[in-house]
Amino acid sequence: MHRFMLLLAIALAATSACSSSHPASSDDNGRSIFQSGHDANGTQIVAEPPALRPNCAACHRMNGSGGVHLPNGAVSADLRHKALVTGQKHPYTLALLERAISTGVDNEGQALNPVMPRWKLSGADLHDVAYYVLTALK
Ligand code: HEC
Repeated sequence: MHRFMLLLAIALAATSACSSSHPASSDDNGRSIFQSGHDANGTQIVAEPPALRPNCAACHRMNGSGGVHLPNGAVSADLRHKALVTGQKHPYTLALLERAISTGVDNEGQALNPVMPRWKLSGADLHDVAYYVLTALK
């Protein structure tokens, strides 16, 4: 083999070995946070004040349909696409979802019931779970 081709082959092999040692994509991370409350590093997500339940699905259900009755008369919201986007006068965007999840301010600028936790997430985790809600919950 030509020396240059050999080096190229080694470089390509090293690149693919590297990416396969980090298998979790943003999509996997968002799903994991939503369903289990653990991000791709295994870190449990936290809220301030502490959340009544440890993950999104525990309140919003695995499919995001919501309707779960919680303390203080709170009922979890439907997070599926029709409820958040197509059925809204001011549809949720990625940025509006990130704001709702981290600060509890909804798409109309109103404060959500405090039973919806104010999540303290890294920028990447906040993005990934918001993106999961926006694109994966049909
Ligand atoms: C302890 C229960 C609980 C957990 C855990 C929880 N939520 Fe909620 N969430 C609620 C409730 C209750 C509401 C509705 C609040 C209201 O009616 O004002 C809500 C509302 C929302 C809304 C606003 C929807 C709308 O119609 O404006 C979004 C977005 C949302 N949750 C996303 C999430 C995500 C993402 C997670 C996980 C990171 C999560 N929630 C975890 C209880 C919860």
